[in-house]
Amino acid sequence: MISKLLVALVLCWGVQSFPDGAPIDTCVKERQNQPNHGQHRTQPISSLPYRVVASSMLFGPNTPITVTIEGAETFKGFFLQARSIDTDQWIGTWENAPNTTIHPECSSITHADPKEKLRAVLLWRAPPDAQGRVYFTGTVLKNYSTFWSNLIAEAPQDAAQLQILG
Ligand SMILES: *[C@@H]1O[C@H](CO)[C@@H](O)[C@H](O)[C@H]1NC(C)=O
Ligand SMILES: *[C@@H]1O[C@H](CO)[C@@H](O)[C@H](O)[C@H]1NC(C)=O
Repeated sequence: MISKLLVALVLCWGVQSFPDGAPIDTCVKERQNQPNHGQHRTQPISSLPYRVVASSMLFGPNTPITVTIEGAETFKGFFLQARSIDTDQWIGTWENAPNTTIHPECSSITHADPKEKLRAVLLWRAPPDAQGRVYFTGTVLKNYSTFWSNLIAEAPQDAAQLQILG
């Protein structure tokens, strides 16, 4: 009985992870950043049809940074986490935006509906007591089988440093 329940739960989770956004374990599982979509694996970043751009990589206390995902093609989902360039730890918080889910435990934000999107504008806020440099990494999903993982948002400064981290 218990094992049946467990199987049902796991199946539900697997099915729902797509329309409702990435589940919390996306933060910590082995293939971090990547959706758990069967055999499907990330497309090469060089073929990414979207632009993922952060308004800055430098922050002071409470600094807001906008991260925009957009492209000529639609996308259904995304998962983005904010990390300190200096310590590689998750850092800061996302503001609530329509149709998104936030995982504060890992400074992450994901889509909350499976609709076709042309653009997502997300607002991140630095901690009240910190300054430093941040990068945004994650996945944009075109559909269940086609997605780009481990991308890093472009930022206006120090692009070379971000490349090294990638
Ligand atoms: C969010 O989802 C609701 C319900 O599906 C929809 O009516 C609304 O237009 C969406 N808003 C945005 C900004 O996508
Ligand atoms: C997903 O997108 C890819 C690339 O555009 C396309 O080739 C594929 O047919 C799509 N799959 C589904 C199920 O829509």
